[in-house]
Amino acid sequence: DKLFTYKGTVLALDSDHDLTPEYIDSLTDFETRDDDLYVVTFPKSGTVWTQRIITLIYEEDFPDKAKQITFEQMPWLEYCLKKADYNARPSPRLFCSHLLQPLMPKALQRKGKIIYVMRNPKDIMVSYFYFSNKMKNLDSSESMYEMLEKFFTGCMVGGCWFDHVKGWITNKDKYNILILTYEEMIKDLRSVIVKICEFVGKNLSDAAIDKVVETATFKHMKKDPLANYEFLPQNVTNNPKGLFLRKGTVGDWRNTLTVAQSECFDRVYQEKMKDVPLNMVWDI
Ligand code: PPS
Repeated sequence: DKLFTYKGTVLALDSDHDLTPEYIDSLTDFETRDDDLYVVTFPKSGTVWTQRIITLIYEEDFPDKAKQITFEQMPWLEYCLKKADYNARPSPRLFCSHLLQPLMPKALQRKGKIIYVMRNPKDIMVSYFYFSNKMKNLDSSESMYEMLEKFFTGCMVGGCWFDHVKGWITNKDKYNILILTYEEMIKDLRSVIVKICEFVGKNLSDAAIDKVVETATFKHMKKDPLANYEFLPQNVTNNPKGLFLRKGTVGDWRNTLTVAQSECFDRVYQEKMKDVPLNMVWDI
């Protein structure tokens, strides 16, 4: 009862958001613009990190940036906070979203760009396990077995990871889309930032790119209250400090899953993803 589920998408309910089926349905008719940018992810794939990188790249477009937290510059499409009028937002508009592909604005197939970020699903599951146990508005899991079941059945924010990734990967040719992985961001953040700049048409100097890299490192973001959402109200979290930045590493699942859990995951993964043309960068 803490989650809002509609057409396969699962979202967290809280009093600041007015989530209704009608609102979610209305988003498929949302008018996009040529210079809109949407960061789309399954939760715990590196959303806040990518959000931060993009807002740094677009810094000149936000004159009062010093006062703005990342999600004010780049709000969630589906969590229309305090019923903001997104049509009235000046261009370029930045959004992020956890929505499944069929629920996203249809107009995005003609106007606007998408950055889709993926991550090793085992690391996502482990990240979500710790995160949901600290958020008051999410269902916690008592064990990793319980978490595994939620992941396989899609009973978590984002819904079913397999459907999310399948939907976006198999429909990618309909969009102007850049697909990134959390793992490549960890491996070479600068190259990814250069790739993003090229994709969105931002011509930053080498020094400006260096600054973005430095400001978007885990160490820096963890200390930056504008980036790490440490101001989230007490009614939402049990532990407000650095909640969205936990470890920031690749392969933490190895410290958490048992061999049996990992093998079980592999079996389900192979079965569900067998028809997906996905070039795996992670060894699951
Ligand atoms: S959410 O709740 O969906 O918005 O979560 P999301 O932001 O997608 O994912 C959270 C994980 O991303 C890690 N993170 C980072 N890793 C490396 N560098 C930076 N700068 C960074 N910022 C966020 C964060 O630590 C979460 O992963 P885990 O594995 O839990 O540490």
